[in-house]
Amino acid sequence: ASTIVVAMDGTSGSGKSSTSRRVASRLGLRYLDTGAQFRAVTAAMIDAGVDFAAADVAEQVAALAARPVVESGTDPDAPTITVDGHDVAERIRTQEVTDHVSAVASVPQVRQRLLDLQREIIGAGGIVVEGRDIGSVVAPDAQVKLYLTADPAARAARRTAENGAGDLDATQADLLRRDAIDSGRATAPAVAADGAVHLDTTPYTLEQVVDLVAGLVEQAG
Ligand code: C5P
Repeated sequence: ASTIVVAMDGTSGSGKSSTSRRVASRLGLRYLDTGAQFRAVTAAMIDAGVDFAAADVAEQVAALAARPVVESGTDPDAPTITVDGHDVAERIRTQEVTDHVSAVASVPQVRQRLLDLQREIIGAGGIVVEGRDIGSVVAPDAQVKLYLTADPAARAARRTAENGAGDLDATQADLLRRDAIDSGRATAPAVAADGAVHLDTTPYTLEQVVDLVAGLVEQAG
């Protein structure tokens, strides 16, 4: 079996998820969506009654960070995500979770907890791992590192199409708001890792990006 690790980082709406899943499926690799893990912890924090408007939100989240048990299924054709045994796949895509996930993901105790889990899942490799700090922090020895971006307008259009509806301007504002928090935080900020291949996906179809990335992985593996 392949032991390759592919670190797929980039901005929200750059095509990371679709590309990661298709590449993993085509090449027979596993797939880990670390954004889904941060979203799952966020859902648990909402359920635990964290007050996101409070000044001490980071302390509230830190105090609860050890509790939720997050499990990720790594089949790229049917990835799963649970918290305390409950399927949260739909819940984590709600606006409520999206609104708070970057605040939760900036808490060091949450990141440490998920970092341990992510490294355990990566194990001996054979996996495409998608997130913001994969090539820089989670898997700095990954054989392939990518950094995907796209024009904000293109990203908003894709995200709106995925969701089947929604306001383009609001979606774009939301993507840019999360980018700013994610790249500005102190612990493991979203960053292009040293040696990462930068790819602006704006002019390409998903199929073209998948072909390109799969080619890079095959060369490396
Ligand atoms: O990838 P996705 O947009 O689902 O990620 C949701 C949020 O989770 C990001 O905006 C970011 O705040 C956080 N995240 C992170 N580190 C990762 C993956 C996601 O901080 N490796």
